[in-house]
Amino acid sequence: HPPTTQMEGSSVVSRANCRAKGGAPGFKVAILGAAGGIGQSLSMLMKMNPLVSVLHLYDVVNTPGVTADVSHMDTVAVVRGFLGQQQLESALTGMDLVIIPAGVPRKPGMTRDDLFKINAGIVKTLCEGVAKCCPHAIVGLISNPVNSTVPIAAEVFKKAGTYDPKKLLGVTTLDVVRANTFVAEVLGIDPREVNVPVVGGHAGVTILPLLSQVKPPCSFTPEEINYLTDRIQNGGTEVVEAKAGTGSATLSMAFAAAKFADACLRGLRGDAGVIECSYVSSQVTELPFFATKVRLGRTGAEEIFPLGPLNEYERAGLEKAKKELAESIQKGASFINK
Ligand code: NAD
Ligand code: LMR
Repeated sequence: HPPTTQMEGSSVVSRANCRAKGGAPGFKVAILGAAGGIGQSLSMLMKMNPLVSVLHLYDVVNTPGVTADVSHMDTVAVVRGFLGQQQLESALTGMDLVIIPAGVPRKPGMTRDDLFKINAGIVKTLCEGVAKCCPHAIVGLISNPVNSTVPIAAEVFKKAGTYDPKKLLGVTTLDVVRANTFVAEVLGIDPREVNVPVVGGHAGVTILPLLSQVKPPCSFTPEEINYLTDRIQNGGTEVVEAKAGTGSATLSMAFAAAKFADACLRGLRGDAGVIECSYVSSQVTELPFFATKVRLGRTGAEEIFPLGPLNEYERAGLEKAKKELAESIQKGASFINK
């Protein structure tokens, strides 16, 4: 029997290119870094998403195995695998949404910025591919340091003449997922009922939970606010330390990325009221990029919401966040324009 892996270049016996049934809208999604810790779980979760008709899995290693494995799930998305730089363009051509978890993760004692040296170049190469092969796709950037990799991507797209600020989004959903979990724990309620806006960026003090705007409305003691803010800002480090050198958050991140991707796809489909926090090009502050609530629509982040009323604690946090963010943004932009 011939192998049935659906890798680029292999032939698969099928009567249809796309098995999406009943005229249902199906979107084409690529995951770059699909064989990694986040990438594998995210590949599985995207294969389970009924809005996905075609799923392209790209990595520089191990995509044949991941592709064969995921492609056996009896859900509608057609899965194709792509291995190595020479297959990047095929992986990207025709995509509506590109999610990028490619790059090295932290080990204990490292900051996200310590990943810049390796991940900046990876993000640059992948975004050059996006600009060439699917310039109209929405890009969800997970690779750290997000505060700098999003500005890197923006500069790559500007150079290529394809930059659409509405379509470049840094994925900060994990900060919201964590905030919802920790707040629900304190309040003793179901986390699915909680919504905590988390603004700013995605590293340490730039992660700014707005506990005064939690839904459903609630109040916290000063001790609870200190505990929650600290735990949300250092949630990533909590996982890095617990994993003791074997990586950073992968499962909760894949869960968060799948939530984020689903929101992008519902926006693309034209659903009303799709709102997520994301790190985007923004005029909410004086900084060129900032995470806030955004409304996702057919053309990406169509509306950027203002911060809303902040209390004194949050205003102080905002000043700290902006200081660090400004440096990270500058570092990312000058990596391309040096
Ligand atoms: P991992 O090492 O398990 O996987 C990374 C994958 O990227 C590997 O399979 C690797 O082969 C691949 N890769 C490396 N260079 C590549 C290239 N040029 N093209 C395509 N693929 C390439 O790491 P992970 O745990 O999956 O984390 C990935 C990244 O996501 C890290 O930078 C991590 O810091 C970041 N992260 C971000 C968030 C967030 O909230 N935004 C959360 C968790 C992790
Ligand atoms: C996270 O928040 O879990 C990620 O950014 C990974 C990390 O390095 O903390």
